[in-house]
Amino acid sequence: TRVAVIGGGQSCEHDVSLASAASVAAALDPTSYDVVPLTIGRDGTWRDRGLRPIGLCGAAQVLRGCDVVLPVVHGPRGEDGTLAALCELAGLPYVGSGVRPGAIAMDKWATKLVAAAVGIATTPGHLVTAATADHERWTHPVVVKPVAAGSSLGVSLVAEPGALRPALDAALALDSRVLVEDVVTAREIDVAVLRRADGTLMVPPALEIVADGLFDHELKYGGHADFRVPAPLTEVDAKALEDAAVATYEALGCSGVARVDFFLTDDGPVLNEVNTVPGMTEHSQVPRMFAAAGMSYAELLDELVRGAHR
Ligand code: DAL
Ligand code: MG
Repeated sequence: TRVAVIGGGQSCEHDVSLASAASVAAALDPTSYDVVPLTIGRDGTWRDRGLRPIGLCGAAQVLRGCDVVLPVVHGPRGEDGTLAALCELAGLPYVGSGVRPGAIAMDKWATKLVAAAVGIATTPGHLVTAATADHERWTHPVVVKPVAAGSSLGVSLVAEPGALRPALDAALALDSRVLVEDVVTAREIDVAVLRRADGTLMVPPALEIVADGLFDHELKYGGHADFRVPAPLTEVDAKALEDAAVATYEALGCSGVARVDFFLTDDGPVLNEVNTVPGMTEHSQVPRMFAAAGMSYAELLDELVRGAHR
């Protein structure tokens, strides 16, 4: 089976995606899969295995020669359903969520609305745009984040009044819409949901992020992130998290694997966000969670490829 693994992309998570895609390409079982890597540059240029520019038409031709497309592009113009759309329009089988779940999950505001509609608590917050930013007033500590970004880029913890405007500007530099959310001090728990090739759902043990303060970009990728998997949880909390993750995954209509991130408060799980193309290096949360369920990284990738949309 020839699998096109697409990495890179135009979003600020370009480098994170390159790492995910390289790990995926290396881990696909070579006795079953022939990997065809494709890279999208920061400027949108499609590049072949040798990083030679081939253009969108050239890329389409390469993709047509493959049996399955495995997009590993995080963030806008990738994870937001655009690569799924390309595959849909070209009639190419592809791994992961379709256009609609990708687009909604990329939008942290829309995700809140969907989650609230199915009874899942989300972090209290409101929307700010460049047009309304002047009216924002400090009331209490908040987290400011772009509506559609990832890997904590453009996210600030605002602890004092003078930091509010710079935080809004930093987030508005990455997206035209920004979320201002209450600070939730609670344990951070990630839950993965996989639709297996046979259509059943699998939820491996949850993972806890052990961080002092904000789990920010530096901590995520500076090599100091500490995960506890399985997360130590009461049966009640474990069940509540699993139910909320599955309800969110299903409400959005996800496919493949998604990572649903929660805060675990005294009142139960509070949804933070959904990643339809979660970090996929061998050391990222998702592979770690499946490993804890006894499914190796290569087996997880095999499930994903066999479960591709056709
Ligand atoms: N957005 C990054 C890749 C993650 O959620 O893992
Ligand atoms: Mg994310």
